[in-house]
Amino acid sequence: MFSDGRLCFGGDYNPEQWPASVWAEDVALMRQARVNLVTVGVFAWSRLEPAPGRYTFDWLDEVLDLLHAGGIRVALATPTASPPPWFSAAHPGALPVTADGVRLHHGSRDTYCAAAPAYRTAALRIAGALADRYAHHPALALWHVHNEYGTICHCEHTARAFRRWLADRHGDLAALNDAWVTSFWSQHYSDWAQISTPRATQYLANPGQLLDFRRFWSDTLLAAYREQRDLLHAANPAIPITTNYVLGDWVPVDHARWAAEVDLVAVDHYPSAVDIGAEEQTALVADLARGWARHGNRHRGTTGPTGRASAWLLMESAPNQIHTAGRMHTKEPGRMIRHSLAHVARGSHGAMFFQWRAPTGGAERFHSALVPHAGPDSRVFREATELGAALQQLTEVGGDVEATVAIAVHAPSGWALRHPGLPSQRLDHQQETAAAHRALWHAGHGCDIVLPGDPLDGYRLLVLPALYLVSDATAQWVREYVEGGGHLLATYLSAVADEHARVRLGGYPGALRDVLGVWVEEFHPLAEHDHVRLHGGGTGRIWAESLRLTGAQVIDAYDGGVLDGRPAITRHRTGAGTAWYVSTRPDDDTYRRLLDEVARSAGVTPVCPGAPAGVEAVRRRGDDASWLFLFNHTDSPQQVPARGTDLLTATPVDQVVQLTPGGVAVLREH
Ligand code: GLA
Repeated sequence: MFSDGRLCFGGDYNPEQWPASVWAEDVALMRQARVNLVTVGVFAWSRLEPAPGRYTFDWLDEVLDLLHAGGIRVALATPTASPPPWFSAAHPGALPVTADGVRLHHGSRDTYCAAAPAYRTAALRIAGALADRYAHHPALALWHVHNEYGTICHCEHTARAFRRWLADRHGDLAALNDAWVTSFWSQHYSDWAQISTPRATQYLANPGQLLDFRRFWSDTLLAAYREQRDLLHAANPAIPITTNYVLGDWVPVDHARWAAEVDLVAVDHYPSAVDIGAEEQTALVADLARGWARHGNRHRGTTGPTGRASAWLLMESAPNQIHTAGRMHTKEPGRMIRHSLAHVARGSHGAMFFQWRAPTGGAERFHSALVPHAGPDSRVFREATELGAALQQLTEVGGDVEATVAIAVHAPSGWALRHPGLPSQRLDHQQETAAAHRALWHAGHGCDIVLPGDPLDGYRLLVLPALYLVSDATAQWVREYVEGGGHLLATYLSAVADEHARVRLGGYPGALRDVLGVWVEEFHPLAEHDHVRLHGGGTGRIWAESLRLTGAQVIDAYDGGVLDGRPAITRHRTGAGTAWYVSTRPDDDTYRRLLDEVARSAGVTPVCPGAPAGVEAVRRRGDDASWLFLFNHTDSPQQVPARGTDLLTATPVDQVVQLTPGGVAVLREH
């Protein structure tokens, strides 16, 4: 973002919620904390356009000028995620409709249908007015379009757009009927007008329709983003443009496909765990963001679609409390800094927060902020100031993250595994991805997230975590990788269905039976608290299978029950490579040991072989330097063998880094 390599630090700033008298103090405090970038105006539509076509920019002029005078740059948002009440009153037909046919009312945010022409017109109008006024403002560093695209609608506008999209995708009704297998339950469509969005229905819905609706909706939201982006770009092509991704398995957006449309991938991350799970999730999300960013963001100076380096930014995170399991959990001292630097270690161009100052009212009145209700004389603000200083020390860090393991993720596979009528309701591509990533993270191995079809040069191990939808092209991509000498680990349910979610015949795992050297005859989904024992001493949960070997050898077998003695984990040497198959979800310890063994047998070495348990190591490699990030996630001091200069303390390290409990070190390595 900054041409001098400075990392971004700041967050959502909502001056419209405060009297002008607070703004000067805001800028003074931002300077004190070394904040250098703030997102302004995300939800300020009713303040910017109090009546249709009547704009009040005076307050924003003043705020931007104040920020500029203070040396703080601005990510100026288009406020289109929260239309004002006048819009909803004038266009009730643009309010969103749920799958049950209920039209939602104004009163929160995101009360619009992204396919409604009136909404799209109003959104473009306010975006255009902002572009006209601020595209050349000296404080402007980045356009931030909308906020967290992700809400769904089932209104008639949507249904019409869905039919158009389907006609484009399938060409004719015969192809659609074939893809959706409408011969089942008399669903054959003889006219496009008969097709609706997958509204609430009597019993199980059609999986092909559900899947295409998700794809369509992701494309519809993307079209809404693109319209605004093109308008902003035309106003000043020098200003990069992004939108912040919201994460979660409910999100109907294929973020990977969006990456080519933004100049910088921006993600919001609020871990749902409060224990070590928060660190595991942080690592996964940062690896995901980097993986998406490799998919061709347009940002100048980045490597592009196939190279590894890529630009992304942690756009929102929580300075303190996170809301999980029915309560707010206060972050322990030091944790905000550790999480932020863990994102930076994995390539984020900084650490941004929601939000700058805690509001007195509104739905998120107790959401944490860099300036909390208690004011700046507070632990959180002091830690924010420490973080600002730490980020300044890391300006020189660059290059790519060291990783020779790739995990393949695929949003449509995630969506398809949430459909009704599957053999278990506990199947989850995201959870399987997280389990594999967690196992590798605990074993100390660096991971990249890739998409089916990505170049795999340089990766020694490819993991397919319940990659359910595998097209012929994806199967060929896997086959070529293994035959060329790659190591593969695929888990249950991978390659079972094609790209339309139609089950492949002839035995599971459909398209990859030959590569894996196994033939799965029957599934044995497990009940919630059930497990299967493995001969090697571990357990498996969620799922088990009866499989036959067609070339693979047994690495571990089921122990007891109907599957007693049958293969559970197998290995197949094929071509110049090796393909492992895991037919259950091993417990975390077993999975860590297994993935460590598989990785090592593939020639993968941990990032920092001497790091003790609980210490995370991430290495960045530039053209002529490397940097080692070390995070102590334990409550005790830890020692790590390493050499270099700790950039955070500016001290040389000869043999061993001493990490305080919860501490971080960033070494420029010799
Ligand atoms: C999201 C939104 C913010 C805010 C936070 C709260 O990331 O973008 O506006 O609602 O969640 O966690």
